[in-house]
Amino acid sequence: TGNKLKDISPDELAQHNNKNDAWLAIRGMVYNVTSYFEFHPGGEEELMRGVGIDATDLFDQVHKWVNYESMLKKCLVGRLKADSMLPP
Ligand code: HEM
Repeated sequence: TGNKLKDISPDELAQHNNKNDAWLAIRGMVYNVTSYFEFHPGGEEELMRGVGIDATDLFDQVHKWVNYESMLKKCLVGRLKADSMLPP
């Protein structure tokens, strides 16, 4: 089906680790936050800390209450899957 989410490995996530190509994962979902950078109330440097990685803990430490799921709905690119769970 057309709306199936792409599986993204930690390695692929790690490749999108800069301001011009920034992905991050929260609770198993991978978001492209490149276009959100200029809007982040905590600033670009803070958001950079979570880019290219599973940022769940970092995110929760800073603002667990923020409704990222709704805010980043259009930025969803896929689902984080451990390499061992993906076909070779
Ligand atoms: C505010 C850090 C990701 C949305 C802040 C602040 C920090 C911060 C330090 C406080 C700024 C201040 O009080 O002056 C981070 C870090 C992130 C991250 C380290 C990496 C994981 C995100 C994401 C979103 C987001 C993914 C949503 C899509 C917000 C919002 C605020 C905020 C809405 C204002 C919250 C409030 O005032 O209650 N962030 N942030 N942040 N951030 Fe993030």
